[in-house]
Amino acid sequence: MAQSKHEKIEKNVFLMIVLTLLTVSVGGLVEIVPLFFQQTTTSPVDYKGNQLNVKPYDPVRLVGRDIYVREGCYNCHSQMIRPFRAETERYGHYSVAGEYIYDHPFQWGSKRTGPDLARVGGRYSDEWQRVHLINPRDVVPESNMPAFPWLDRPAKVSDIQDKMRALNKVGLHKYSDEEIAAAPAAVEGITELDAVVAYLQGMGTALQNVR
Ligand code: HEC
Repeated sequence: MAQSKHEKIEKNVFLMIVLTLLTVSVGGLVEIVPLFFQQTTTSPVDYKGNQLNVKPYDPVRLVGRDIYVREGCYNCHSQMIRPFRAETERYGHYSVAGEYIYDHPFQWGSKRTGPDLARVGGRYSDEWQRVHLINPRDVVPESNMPAFPWLDRPAKVSDIQDKMRALNKVGLHKYSDEEIAAAPAAVEGITELDAVVAYLQGMGTALQNVR
């Protein structure tokens, strides 16, 4: 029986590789490239084009975010609410791309040993967050989140201006010279706890009034 065209491809490894690469590349380009030019993925708007109340990280929250990364909080907490009923009932409105435009690096995460934190801002008081971080079991007796008692120490802030300049190279927001000049005063004397709590309290409040 004569070989079908498809059989020929399947039996020729090189042809198969070349055609596979071609298919994947074209598929990838078609799916990914348009995202670079879509307003909803490159500007602070939601899926309907409404302006979001998303602000670039101020210096204190920048320090807090780096501590969040250092402590590996993302290993147990995601920051991405999927558009499913079970998620939106528990965490609030699902996440939209425009909320993340100032996140470098983004903290979406993929593991949820603890709850998603994308909309945790304002859910608890600052004091609750502080107690919880020092020892989670003081406020949630059944918690298996590790304690982070060492956060109650002065934060390293000497590199804040370098951080902002580095973000200016990759980020969408360009910190102005005035913002950079004012940063050391804004973070002077803060503890790591102050910074992490400020970071958490600002999380996901951008979409609160959009339905
Ligand atoms: C080993 C996993 C683990 C790590 C690491 C971890 N957490 Fe948690 N986290 C949990 C679990 C489990 C809960 C749910 C129980 C509780 O509230 O303590 C939780 C709850 C929370 C909550 C309350 C969320 C809510 O909606 O009730 C916050 C805020 C939080 N974690 C912040 C952090 C921060 C900040 C860090 C890093 C400094 C961190 N977590 C590291 C497991 C973890």
